[in-house]
Amino acid sequence: MHNRTKAPTTTIIVHPRSKRRAAEDEGYGERSRLDEARGLAAAIDLGVIHAESVNIAKPNPATYLGEGTVERLAEFIKENKVELAVVDGHLSPGQQRNLEKAWNAKVIDRTGLILEIFGERARTREGQLQVELAHLTYQKSRLVRSWTHLERQRGGFGFLGGPGETQIEIDRRLIGERITRLKKELETVTRTRGLHREARRRIPYPIVALVGYTNAGKSTLFNMLTKSNVVAMDQLFATLDPTMRQLKLPSGRTVILSDTVGFVSDLPHELVAAFRATLEEVLEADVIVHVRDIVHPESEAQKHDVEDVLRQLGIEADGQRPVIEALNKIDLLGDEEATGLVTSASRTEDQVALSAVTGEGMEEFLDLVDEELARQRKALDVTVPLEDGETIAWLYRRGEVLSRKDGETEAHFSVLLDAADTARLEKRGLVLRRAAE
Ligand code: GTP
Repeated sequence: MHNRTKAPTTTIIVHPRSKRRAAEDEGYGERSRLDEARGLAAAIDLGVIHAESVNIAKPNPATYLGEGTVERLAEFIKENKVELAVVDGHLSPGQQRNLEKAWNAKVIDRTGLILEIFGERARTREGQLQVELAHLTYQKSRLVRSWTHLERQRGGFGFLGGPGETQIEIDRRLIGERITRLKKELETVTRTRGLHREARRRIPYPIVALVGYTNAGKSTLFNMLTKSNVVAMDQLFATLDPTMRQLKLPSGRTVILSDTVGFVSDLPHELVAAFRATLEEVLEADVIVHVRDIVHPESEAQKHDVEDVLRQLGIEADGQRPVIEALNKIDLLGDEEATGLVTSASRTEDQVALSAVTGEGMEEFLDLVDEELARQRKALDVTVPLEDGETIAWLYRRGEVLSRKDGETEAHFSVLLDAADTARLEKRGLVLRRAAE
């Protein structure tokens, strides 16, 4: 996915371990927090040559890390020509600046790192704009020219400034201008997206949203599913963003499959807010598929992180929304373990084991989505003219007909249908009433 030709940036990672953090880290363990940070750094091709946890009894206000640690690492950084230090915690702008001075290297904290990752991985124009906005807001508050991929892509902010302006003032002004422009552009994109959503409501297909920890395999699954099952694009969907595709389920039902951004633990609040709009698809989804990397050593902790983010988005609130767990990457398990997982998942109503690479488990996955949508069906009373054989056949195909009474010219059905199909019939004025209401 990442075609970087540049040599990786020489990087060290420092994970500050405070008492408070240690409590937060419960379930992860210190060592693996460090591994997680290492994994995140690897996700954007940083060349990590050293990673360590350091104890912080009481954060040093100037540098967060203790004096001894700062000095020791300064030596290491100099000797090894380290370009970037990731401090896996939350640094104030002043602390970041002081560390940059002491180490003569770029310093970013966890928020900075996550912004980088999201910046690289944002798949929609809206997502890209939102990350850039969050990034600039973060940067502006720091008043330092922080190290960023985005900045490199843009070739940095210009060096033209009025006389007497310091570089930082110029930067601050340019950042401010860019923020204003971004906000405007974002408004337009969001409006367009709103129109798409409206259009989609008129052709109501259920939405199936893929969520999951970064690197869990969402995109791979999305591609695997849509490669073989994608139906011909009509005009409307041709303009939808690339993270949405129509998909035909084994029952013949069409759904819209929607890919989302990856989640990470300890998601910076700025980003939760920024991504709320992008994740609207998730909020509107009829079925949420939580894609999990089942071979990852921290698979369980990642699961909790994702559930936390969903909760922050308010998804837990209704408690109704079905979440299917796709236990991915089973091709990396031994035969016996894979079979065991497939069997135990098949005994549940909401889990399926699969491999987005080999395609194993795809049918079971699609069946599960079908079943879930079927569960969401509601009973309706529907009246159809007897001569409308097409609609009657459609009812039998799409719904579960509970009873049928034929009159002279019309047939009366009691039928279980999902929300999208119900809306279709309602539009045509065929639904008499919702039996359950
Ligand atoms: P983000 O973009 O960060 O949200 O990641 P993602 O969840 O979309 O993950 P992606 O599909 O990019 O996959 C991450 C890595 O896992 C890639 O290197 C994939 O090739 C690999 N991968 C995904 N699914 C499988 C699988 O079933 N088996 C194996 N062996 N590798 C997989």
